[in-house]
Amino acid sequence: MSISLNTKYLKDFIAPHELEAAKAQAELAAKTLHDRSGLGNDFLGWVNLPTDYDKEEFERIKVAAKKIQSNSDILIVIGIGGSYLGARAAIELLKSPFYNNLKKDTPDIYYVGNNINPTYLNEVLSICEGKDISVNVISKSGTTTEPALAFRVFRELVEKKYGKEGAKDRIFCTTDKARGTLKQLADTEGYETFVIADDVGGRYSVLTAVGLLPIAVAGCDIDAIMAGAKQAQDELAKDFDNNDCYKYAAIRNILYSKNKSIELLVSYDPSFTMMAEWFKQLFGESEGKDGKGIFPASVTFSTDLHSMGQFIQDGSRVMFETVVDIKKPKQDFFLESDAENLDGLNFLTNQNMSVVNRKAFEGTVLAHTEGGVPNIVLELEDTTEKSFGYMVYFFEKACAISGYMLGVNPFNQPGVESYKKNMFALLGKPGYEDQKAALEAKLK
Ligand code: PA5
Repeated sequence: MSISLNTKYLKDFIAPHELEAAKAQAELAAKTLHDRSGLGNDFLGWVNLPTDYDKEEFERIKVAAKKIQSNSDILIVIGIGGSYLGARAAIELLKSPFYNNLKKDTPDIYYVGNNINPTYLNEVLSICEGKDISVNVISKSGTTTEPALAFRVFRELVEKKYGKEGAKDRIFCTTDKARGTLKQLADTEGYETFVIADDVGGRYSVLTAVGLLPIAVAGCDIDAIMAGAKQAQDELAKDFDNNDCYKYAAIRNILYSKNKSIELLVSYDPSFTMMAEWFKQLFGESEGKDGKGIFPASVTFSTDLHSMGQFIQDGSRVMFETVVDIKKPKQDFFLESDAENLDGLNFLTNQNMSVVNRKAFEGTVLAHTEGGVPNIVLELEDTTEKSFGYMVYFFEKACAISGYMLGVNPFNQPGVESYKKNMFALLGKPGYEDQKAALEAKLK
């Protein structure tokens, strides 16, 4: 098991009989998921993905990654939400948050089309000047405004630099197998395409070409990622008593029933920050509906202890923490003692820095639980590809079980449409004329 649940710090908040009572609900949710009889059951492709993925396409991903590595200084990844967060989370966790600045023989990676900010776009364009680039545009619907707009700009750039023929070697489209503007455009222009299966939603798609192509370009071992996910698929199908994923889902729901409506995902490793962003989308978009849901938030300690620590310790008692405790950091740093000890820090020395980080964790968890904040601890073995794959599957399944326990459809996202309708109307998109005047009046 790459992840195990430690409930040691929950004993003042959840009694054993409460977990026992939630067990039946969690088992029912798991049965509903496996029977495919629940809400959103046409979006369950991710459940068997670690065994049922398209092996031919998987090999094509590796070939495309090698090609991009051999002919590009920069890979531009265009996508938003579930179409980019997983890849970025993986690359920062498995490689480094400083990936682009590392000495390496793989391309730098920049993410665009995840906002509509002109400064951001101009800055990435200027970074690309004089560099060889490839583009991976990722959009399941193939119609999302942010990536479509960015793709228009980068397609033009690639065509200008390499010609229409050359662009075919450098533009890779990950989208629906048949529908959407992006698929049509890719077919017309002859770009290589990768498929997002109909039954895999955006936020559950990191283990498809959506995540795997950029991750492979960064030099990560995607076979090991899938092996980790496969191990999770097998182990996390066990009964409740032997299933930390189900227990985690149950505990979240027990805490929610006690008015703990914010979950803070905590880590002590800055390379986990984007993983937390991925987690927030997964749980936020899956559970936040019908007036219900735990609001997913995140902090990175110890830095955020100096900004959010006061609130967590002493503010409104509305939250619980889920600490991802990475047992083995990628690297350690031995702290030497200093003969003069002018800074008074010799009490920290003659040991690895990871030990100091661990004491910060232990001190914090004791303080926060004392302050009335329940702490769930998820022990993650390390930050290897295998553990990443395992963790992705763990959280995806926990989210599905938790969502079913909450009584929502964890696989749709009807609320995301509201801002789009307003934005399109305000921008004068054909078909939205009726709403425009009313919205403009409200803005006056
Ligand atoms: O999880 C989801 O469905 C969303 O976050 C999508 O991933 C996001 O909106 C991007 O959509 P698309 O891939 O269709 O461009």
